[in-house]
Amino acid sequence: MTRWQEPVAQNNLADIFGTLRRHPDVEAPNLQAWDATDRLLLEAAAEGLNPDTRLTVIGDRYGALTLGALGALGVQRVRVHEDLITGERALRNNAAAVGLAAADPGAVAATGFEQLPLGEELLSGADLVLLQLPRTLAELEEIAAAVARYAAPDVVLLAGGRIKHMSLGMNAVLARHFETVQPQLARQKSRIIRASGARQTEAPEWSPAVERLAELDLDVAAHGAVFAGAKLDIGTRFLLTFLPEMPQARHAIDLGCGTGILSAMYARQNPASRVTATDRSAAAVASARATARANGLEERITTLQDDAMSTLPAGSAELVLLNPPFHLGASVHAGAGIKLFEAAARVLAPGGELWTVFNRHLQYLPALERLVGPTTVRGGNPKFTVAVSTRRP
Ligand SMILES: C[S@@+](CC[C@H](N)C(=O)[O-])C[C@H]1O[C@@H](n2cnc3c(N)ncnc32)[C@H](O)[C@@H]1O
Repeated sequence: MTRWQEPVAQNNLADIFGTLRRHPDVEAPNLQAWDATDRLLLEAAAEGLNPDTRLTVIGDRYGALTLGALGALGVQRVRVHEDLITGERALRNNAAAVGLAAADPGAVAATGFEQLPLGEELLSGADLVLLQLPRTLAELEEIAAAVARYAAPDVVLLAGGRIKHMSLGMNAVLARHFETVQPQLARQKSRIIRASGARQTEAPEWSPAVERLAELDLDVAAHGAVFAGAKLDIGTRFLLTFLPEMPQARHAIDLGCGTGILSAMYARQNPASRVTATDRSAAAVASARATARANGLEERITTLQDDAMSTLPAGSAELVLLNPPFHLGASVHAGAGIKLFEAAARVLAPGGELWTVFNRHLQYLPALERLVGPTTVRGGNPKFTVAVSTRRP
């Protein structure tokens, strides 16, 4: 039996999964770097593999699919797309831990995998695509359209997820891009949908929706994966009511920018300020860039994909605006917000201000006080609190 005809090497897989870490994403005992869907997808992939299979992985969280395919399925080369830079970095770290040299993105020769944006280079000629299903139908739409457009005509897409996060709407989205969509048997609370018969259209390439937010007189662009789509989050709406009170900073940062509404509104209000919109999600950063462009602010707003502003110098901003996440993937976890408070404390110059909006029930004030500096509640409504923390010298 040749290597590629063997079923998944379970020992190898257990060994690989056992080494996986989420770092630099938040780590905690209840947060895992892989799940049963990763295992199910790899087992399903093993059934149809041959030496010439060109494999693409989309939505790998921390490298379980990519490293599982390379280490336990005997695949020689994997092209992979992850939206979050934390996931990309975790994959590189985890690859080093299992003996594949940590490499620059794209150094396929050393590692066997190549990290690429969602698009033609990722998918051209792919005949098998493994997908960890995204949370929103809009993101699935963008991914399914790209697979149908760029992959081989006989591509098989294996899309897996936790059953509690799956919906019939996902089948409907896939059916728009594939002739045959077959949900498979469920196992360990995960299920795979198999899609084949790509509908390759001549339709224009997928592009982000741009919607007019009349209440802000702003055009907002949103890729599928981005928080709140092109809509205005109600916490962000509340924070924006404080815009006239915010200081005019030489350098202001929209941390966790999503579609970039905060940066666009701040830049418009403060023509002398330089603004950075930064997020760990590639889709968010692309959306913020498109939002800036749609409103003629592209000269004023710089976008940056980064994990918690790790590449910005300490003390380099006078203002940080933040509507923090309180989810990590599907789990509610305070660590996501805390990590961004720590980042704000590092990047703010002494005397600089962090303006945060959060759900009233979240006990963030002591953490803000401890991590950043003196914190006052600037306003509240029945759902949200807006706090200002001044970076202590
Ligand atoms: C609640 S959303 C706010 C989005 C946007 N500012 C708005 O107001 O609509 C939080 C954002 O933080 C981003 N985020 C989460 N963890 C991050 C991290 N470690 N580094 C950078 N951005 C992060 C998420 O991707 C998400 O876009």
